Amino acid sequence: MVVASAPGKCILFGEHAVVYGQPAVAIAIDQRVQIEIQPTGKPGDVWKLDGMKFLPEKHPHLEGLRARIWHLSEETPSLSIKINSKIPSSAGLGSSAALSVAFTAALRAARGRRVDENGWCEGFSSETKTNPYPRPTKGKDPGFERNGGKRLLGQSSVDEDECAIMGHAIEAEAQQGRASPIDSSTVSHGGCILLSNDVKAGLDWKYSRSLETPEGIRNWEIHEIVIPTDDVWLVIGNTGCYSSTSELVSQVADLIEAEPQKMQVIETIGAITRRGVSALIKGDMEKVGRCMTENHLLLRNLGVSSPELENLVRAAAHSSLGVKLTGAGGGGCMIALTRNPKETGEAIELAGGYSFKTSLNAIGVRLDSDQGAPFWTPGVADS
Ligand code: MEV
Repeated sequence: MVVASAPGKCILFGEHAVVYGQPAVAIAIDQRVQIEIQPTGKPGDVWKLDGMKFLPEKHPHLEGLRARIWHLSEETPSLSIKINSKIPSSAGLGSSAALSVAFTAALRAARGRRVDENGWCEGFSSETKTNPYPRPTKGKDPGFERNGGKRLLGQSSVDEDECAIMGHAIEAEAQQGRASPIDSSTVSHGGCILLSNDVKAGLDWKYSRSLETPEGIRNWEIHEIVIPTDDVWLVIGNTGCYSSTSELVSQVADLIEAEPQKMQVIETIGAITRRGVSALIKGDMEKVGRCMTENHLLLRNLGVSSPELENLVRAAAHSSLGVKLTGAGGGGCMIALTRNPKETGEAIELAGGYSFKTSLNAIGVRLDSDQGAPFWTPGVADS
């Protein structure tokens, strides 16, 4: 059985604007999704999800990854998948990205990764964006092991970057081609992630991503930020109302098409995010909080807040450094940056929300167990 997990995320600055190439900052949260896979028996057997028949059309995220990493053949074992999630779904906390990233890690650990003296012989990396190794036209490569190739197993086969790429590809499919890599990168790497349209000097730059969206090619540079303070928390307030990221992203796209001047709101969110980032790096949490609250007002202007979100934002404001909705909006969650998590959590609950506290440095994707792996050792033809 292979078990992998990934955290949810919340966005501190820049949601929606990031889809248009503006910067954004997100933080991994303490709540995680865990995914468990094991072979069901013979190749060709029915795949299972939580004990029931797996229906690919109902789970496009899982099916998209299955198609990329576990292509069906006469030798590929069928799998039984179990999901255990502590991340509320459709609530703006990155539950679908966390699921994709954890499933990628589990599938990779379940098959391992072939490497030779030049490095990876299979898999996806940011340098290549896709599998760089062409498939041979027929058969396996019997000389592979003889020629010094080997298979990485366990934790060393799992790569955060590959998990993030896969997660982004799947999010983009689900959001009609308009998805930034903010969720997938954050839940893969953990901690605090900044996306921007240029490489920021002095920050830990990780890699670039690009995507062809209906509005043109978008490019993002992904960085890690270390937050130099440990006496603040985020309290997340859940309205309990579901929202669909893909619908809200389309709603903003329609708004901008109908009222092109709204692009200024997107640009102002970008400016606030840049201010928030420099405050974050200095550890000036009071200023970070003010920028978050300003960001919220602009999101409201884009029409993605809701009466329930406004209610929780108001309730949390007086005990917090800053408050805003987080993620796509339209329902889902708000966040409060606070030095008084108990008071802030209670205020949210009194106003009718569910609250939980998270630190600012949760870890990213992790292989929790890989007993009995690999389940499948594909040859070159299946790379
Ligand atoms: C969703 O968590 C964040 C959005 O900006 C969408 C995206 O970045 O793909 C609303």
